[in-house]
Amino acid sequence: MTILVTGGAGFIGSNFVLDWLAQSDEPVLTLDALTYAGNRENLASLAGDARHTFVHGDITDRALVDRLMAEHRPRAIVHFAAESHVDRSIHGPGAFIQTNIQGTFTLLEAARTHWQSLADEAKAAFRFLHVSTDEVYGSLAADAPAFTETHPFEPNSPYSASKAASDHLVRAWHHTYGLPVLTTNCSNNYGPYHFPEKLIPLMIVNALAGKPLPVYGDGQQIRDWLYVKDHCAAIRRVLEAGRLGETYNVGGWNEKANIDIVKTVCALLDEMQPSAEGPYARLITYVKDRPGHDRRYAIDARKLERELGWKPAETFETGIRKTVRWYLDHPDWVLRVQSGAYRDWVATQYQA
Ligand code: NAD
Ligand code: DAU
Repeated sequence: MTILVTGGAGFIGSNFVLDWLAQSDEPVLTLDALTYAGNRENLASLAGDARHTFVHGDITDRALVDRLMAEHRPRAIVHFAAESHVDRSIHGPGAFIQTNIQGTFTLLEAARTHWQSLADEAKAAFRFLHVSTDEVYGSLAADAPAFTETHPFEPNSPYSASKAASDHLVRAWHHTYGLPVLTTNCSNNYGPYHFPEKLIPLMIVNALAGKPLPVYGDGQQIRDWLYVKDHCAAIRRVLEAGRLGETYNVGGWNEKANIDIVKTVCALLDEMQPSAEGPYARLITYVKDRPGHDRRYAIDARKLERELGWKPAETFETGIRKTVRWYLDHPDWVLRVQSGAYRDWVATQYQA
């Protein structure tokens, strides 16, 4: 038995692969194009581990995906690979259409061909698990109830629109062809290996470097934060026992305003690695808002708890403390991901 993990060198994918192989001996085949967001170093601890195979390649490459299916005969595909950063989707939506829509289509077609070739028992056991986002549901008013799985799709950014399109493709491949799919829609993750273009790791690395902490608009936008290892556990549980064709919302019941997240990060750094210049919060700088910025996300994860018994293990307080500690303990990882391409992005996005 083998599972195919796409995007396994990225933030959530690498946490998933590491956690999977820490808990099971079922081999993992990782397929990752190693874009700016993919980092083989995240999987360095698996070097020489016969249970893990890494393939550097693109999910839009049908011939490659077909070959991998034929050679490895995966019993499941866990599909993380995507362009994932909203700000980048505003600057350059093309890559999001290509990977998130065309790439998901390519995988679905390759999965369908593979699945149809399986004997009855393997065919019944096969799963295609699509990892998606709460952003497909759009933005919530301050007093609106949290997103349930039946909330209408109202994506507002090129990123969320491309993910919504991929969710629709996955649904259609189940409805039309019977492909055994599962979809998860998760809220904002944080934790180890998070690329420092996203809010929490950006604030940690900028603060440590004595650089401004850029807060968009009034900083009162709300996100619902989940520690990445809880997301990985939810995916394992849905893969194991999710009902075919269903979608499951995944969230941490941790709604926080961005400015409060930034202040929390600053307070933890003040405690764990105080700066001689004074409290890190002195670096907080309000900058121009993200175009089309969604005001609030909140996930109602009761279906996943009720049907599959999943609940997050971490509170925000325990998870954020572990996360800040991880960044303090991994300065070399941070240095290496801040390559030339990273510096170009920061210069483009945060120019005055
Ligand atoms: P990430 O940007 O850190 O990693 C994406 C990975 O996909 C990288 O390793 C990259 O090299 C790879 N990739 C990109 N294009 C590819 C292609 N064409 N072919 C093969 N590999 C390719 O993303 P992430 O934050 O780990 O998110 C993973 C998935 O989870 C995405 O589908 C995202 O939409 C979803 N998601 C993310 C969050 C979050 O908070 N980060 C929340 C909910 C859902
Ligand atoms: O909700 C799930 C989504 O969460 C995932 O689908 C996306 O892949 C993931 O990137 C994340 O999207 P967000 O846009 O919510 O994450 P980001 O870290 O980019 O921003 C979080 C909030 O912080 C958002 O309201 C924008 C704000 N922000 C972000 C950055 C990078 C700032 O105020 N300043 C910043 O410099």
